[in-house]
Amino acid sequence: MKEYMLDLFKQIYGDNMGVRVFFAPGRVNLIGEHTDYNGGHVFPCALTLGTYAAVRRRNDNKIRMYSKNITKGSVIEREYGDFSIINKNNWSNYPYGVVWALAQKGIHIDSGFDVVYYGNIPAGAGLSSSASIEVLTAYMLRNLYGYEMNNVDIALMCQYSENNYNGMNCGIMDQFASAMGKEGHAIFLDTAKLEYKYAPVKLNNKKIVIMNTNKRHNLGTSKYNERRRESEAALKALQTKLPIKSLGDMSGEQFEEYKGLIDNPVQRKRAKHAVYENQRTIKAYNALIKDDIEAFGRLMVQSHESLRDDYEVSCRELDIMVSEGLKHKGVYGIRMTGGGFGGCAVSIIDSDRADEVVLLVGSEYEKAVGYKADFYTVLPGGGPSEL
Ligand code: GLA
Repeated sequence: MKEYMLDLFKQIYGDNMGVRVFFAPGRVNLIGEHTDYNGGHVFPCALTLGTYAAVRRRNDNKIRMYSKNITKGSVIEREYGDFSIINKNNWSNYPYGVVWALAQKGIHIDSGFDVVYYGNIPAGAGLSSSASIEVLTAYMLRNLYGYEMNNVDIALMCQYSENNYNGMNCGIMDQFASAMGKEGHAIFLDTAKLEYKYAPVKLNNKKIVIMNTNKRHNLGTSKYNERRRESEAALKALQTKLPIKSLGDMSGEQFEEYKGLIDNPVQRKRAKHAVYENQRTIKAYNALIKDDIEAFGRLMVQSHESLRDDYEVSCRELDIMVSEGLKHKGVYGIRMTGGGFGGCAVSIIDSDRADEVVLLVGSEYEKAVGYKADFYTVLPGGGPSEL
């Protein structure tokens, strides 16, 4: 991959003397969905798939960015210090937002740079291609310009840039998973305290298979921000009687006792998901460290049902994928993963059965929706690195 990236740099900018190559992963969330901005737990792992950058400092203030993934894309050039947003949908606003966030923190890079990006995570599929390019940019700039920042602070800064530069009010999960990934491990993160534990993912003859509906989550940002507002409104209603800081502070019993404080039935459903999903995530962590994949799988399925019925962030394509998956022996668990409204499902399947399940689910899915799904077997990978 290093050679590939160096060649790409040369094709775009003429030569590749002194160019350095970096990587940061995407992530798949095993369980704990829409809990991160509700002060709950999440349980993602970094992937070995991710985004690569070949980069070199310049002697002037120009910043030039190119992405191999954008068909017919061109080099995007800005002058350092001009932080206007090019056009709302331009991909370069994600990495450039990180340059902006650094400046907001008082870290001013003292020259521009040329960079080419290439990613092997499908975009818009809920596998955090955006967090991966953000974390990659922060990590490579830290190594290039030598400022002090640990990987947790990189994650926080990238979340800040996505919230404030890109207008997506995401929680911390994606950037944290990318910045703090550990090979062979999932990350059990308490998003309220930013305390985390690594849990070994021992699959013993099972595989993690990601099923991509190939429905892009275009509606993502607006619906996501709406869910966030609904959860916050529910929390406010509960706080009129309860001294809680977030929905993640509540047990299921407590929620049942006080849910009547939330007048709005939609907001009540959103809160119900956030509370129970957090409890499921804690149970799932305990199941995984005890090697109880059956219990883990059951929690995954409950998570999907709650995301579908109470949080309403699934979609027809994801529901078809999940119900088709559940028809087969050897499927321990399956659920939508990431923000929702399209994107991917994640499943745990017996290794001996995985190929057959993929074939059958793939064909039923195509019959039902009229286009093909993609399937990837993945392993938990490490965090950002220089190649
Ligand atoms: C997106 C966000 C995350 C998280 C998930 C849902 O991926 O970026 O912060 O909220 O959705 O769990």
